[in-house]
Amino acid sequence: MKENISLSLKNVGDFISLEEITALAQQSVRHLDSLNNKTGAGNDFLGWLTLPDDILPQLDNIEKSAEYLRSISDFTVVIGIGGSYLGSRAVIEALSHTFSTLRKDLHHEVVFAGQNLSEDYIADLIEILDKVNYSIVVISKSGVTTEPAIAFRIIRNHLENKVGKEEAGKRIIAITDSKKGALRPLAQLNGYQTFVIPDNIGGRYSVLTPAGLLPIALCGFDIRSLVNGAKSMEQITRINRNGATNLSLLYAATRNLILQSGKTTEIMISYNPKLHYFAEWWKQLYGESEGKDRKGIFPAAVDFTTDLHSLGQYIQDGQRIMFETVLSVREPVKKVTVPKEEEDADQLNYLAGQRLSQVDHNAEAGTILAHNDGKVPVMHITIPELTEYYIGQLFYFFELACGVSGYILDVNPFDQPGVEAYKKNMFALLSKPGYEESGKLLRERLK
Ligand code: PA5
Repeated sequence: MKENISLSLKNVGDFISLEEITALAQQSVRHLDSLNNKTGAGNDFLGWLTLPDDILPQLDNIEKSAEYLRSISDFTVVIGIGGSYLGSRAVIEALSHTFSTLRKDLHHEVVFAGQNLSEDYIADLIEILDKVNYSIVVISKSGVTTEPAIAFRIIRNHLENKVGKEEAGKRIIAITDSKKGALRPLAQLNGYQTFVIPDNIGGRYSVLTPAGLLPIALCGFDIRSLVNGAKSMEQITRINRNGATNLSLLYAATRNLILQSGKTTEIMISYNPKLHYFAEWWKQLYGESEGKDRKGIFPAAVDFTTDLHSLGQYIQDGQRIMFETVLSVREPVKKVTVPKEEEDADQLNYLAGQRLSQVDHNAEAGTILAHNDGKVPVMHITIPELTEYYIGQLFYFFELACGVSGYILDVNPFDQPGVEAYKKNMFALLSKPGYEESGKLLRERLK
């Protein structure tokens, strides 16, 4: 039987007691019940709860489509933003060779677009696309999000000019809502293959739908193992009504108790640069789910040991507003040891023969204690190794905890009304039809 990810609360003990944590975790079983019975806020967006089973019939098709795109192209532009991009990027970055851009032999190359409006970004990408044999996966649940819609228009035009409209149609896969939005009719008109993001799954909970799985499969990673990992976590969290042993309830309860003690920022910390985008995914999940009604914990992320030489000072000594969730990988995939030198001019012989991971783990353990001494509570999540299976476990663990945590905060964790404000102003300033009056008012304010 495989191991599971683990959660240590040892280093929050100076701030809140295990009794308080288990008491709130036990009280939060009612929120777990609300999720399972679909009686809480946002209950029409709970399709992700059972995705590890529900997605199984589609895996064959996703794998076949990935294989098809790999067979007709060397390179795929994956277009999407927010929940339509961060989940797949998290997995791809975590499992790819660190220098994959220099190792083109390793797998089909995937690049992301539509996650910003930078002209330079798209111009640089177009320069690359001029020279490669490429395909497009466009992902937008609503089908009307400005950033991916514009990127898709530009890159689709480039592809059509390069290979002809008919051939382009065979090289584009669209992943969108079953009925609504502009992407579905566009796909029908041009004969693109399509996948559906179900109505009852919001973007940031959609990594186990085709939105996340197709780009991951394209890079050759094992989506069955990812889904299996999520399934195993579902089995040990979703139906476990014991607050003292349910990892998602314990995590949700702990972070809320720390918030109540006045610490408003949670920093996700990893010592493996490959997890950078996993933290980005986590930031979106918690930021968009909880930051509303003037409530929520601000989710931040740092990469250690890199950022110990920048933000480390603030975390150790600055305003005492933060707590940490450290994400550790126990076993590295590869092995590097520190060599011995006769002269020892750099005085590193005391480390000779040690694996780099031993040095890294000591940096991690020492930092946890130092930050604890600096009045920073630290939760510690360990995954045995960086594989599809354990990333799947992490996805489900954090999603379920986020639903429960949102309910503890008494917010709807499945909507995102706040993201509309910038869009309205942008449309008004761009003179989109229907926004003329507000455009005038905003331009006055900008004078
Ligand atoms: O979590 C969410 O719902 C959002 O972050 C969306 O994923 C993001 O705004 C992109 O939306 P769409 O997929 O409709 O283009």
